[in-house]
Amino acid sequence: MNARICGTGSILPKKTVTNFDLAERMETSDEWISSRTGIRERHIATTETTAEMAVSAARKALEEAKMQPEELEMILVATVTADHIAPSAACEVQAALGAVNAVAIELNAACSGFVFALNTAQAYVRAGIYKKLLVVGVETLSKVVDWTDRSTCILFGDGAGAAVLEAVEEDGIQDFVQHADGGKGSALLCDARPLKNLFVDNPFGQEFVKMDGQEVFKFAVKRVAESIDTVLDRNHILPSQVSLYILHQANARIIQTVAKHLGEDMDKFPMNIDHCANTSGASVPILLDELNRAGRIKRGDKIVLSGFGGGLTWGSIYMIW
Ligand code: UT7
Repeated sequence: MNARICGTGSILPKKTVTNFDLAERMETSDEWISSRTGIRERHIATTETTAEMAVSAARKALEEAKMQPEELEMILVATVTADHIAPSAACEVQAALGAVNAVAIELNAACSGFVFALNTAQAYVRAGIYKKLLVVGVETLSKVVDWTDRSTCILFGDGAGAAVLEAVEEDGIQDFVQHADGGKGSALLCDARPLKNLFVDNPFGQEFVKMDGQEVFKFAVKRVAESIDTVLDRNHILPSQVSLYILHQANARIIQTVAKHLGEDMDKFPMNIDHCANTSGASVPILLDELNRAGRIKRGDKIVLSGFGGGLTWGSIYMIW
């Protein structure tokens, strides 16, 4: 059995912040941001919580899947910006939905979070343990970016995306690769929980996102291309047979480089980074939902999803829609 997506949903916070809005508050420009990244605006949570966005996206996905919350057996929420340490965002989603029969687990793999969570769902389905699952990618990065650091704060946005999965005999997730390189963790860091107790003299941590942009850029183009090559080769699929490559939206230039490597047209690499910016673990499911609702994905289409980022982590999925 494979896990197949039978419903998607997403939500963005109401407040839109353009590059011009940022340029009024810091030394930057629309030209710098858009030419280096492809970002023109982002949505920033001013009232919405991480759990609320996750629940809204999940409700839409359940509606499309025509599934009742009580039918769910597992909820996986990928996030690095849950509202609390405990209860987890996944437990909050379970409670708000009334998904009383589902186990709820939060998963932290930064920008690879949604892809890793889908892989986890697939493993449970393959093992015959669960048949109906909900996977959510949600982030409120605006809580953890350093708004005095123009090299990072302009990159991120908030939002949530969700997918409902059901076990099917053939289509759905066919294969995945996933990797981590903790040795390079300092290239993209957010140490919000430094040692802090009676016996520590000078508790100090890097509370905000800190990134070596060029190091992460080099890592991303190499590893994403590699992981897509692996998952396609292993399944004897040519890049030209894939209808859509849905990549984590970190930088338009990363996506263009991967498209060039595969020798495929950019229209197979849809982007929403212009209006969403980098929403970390939420970017893949938000884009997936936008494409699904726009009718860009049809049953039987071969699709590749890729996530990459903090950890460092990266991975790709090959699925038949
Ligand atoms: O989601 C997780 C994965 N993340 C990624 O994949 C991100 C990968 N990295 C990147 O996308 C790019 O490295 C960035 C977009 C983050 C940065 O682009 P870059 O071409 O690597 O720029 P840079 O950091 O080398 O900075 C170039 C210049 C510097 O000035 P000097 O030293 O050359 O005078 C920066 O101070 O641009 C300056 N700069 C800015 N200028 C205007 C940095 N940020 C800004 C800004 N506005 N916001």
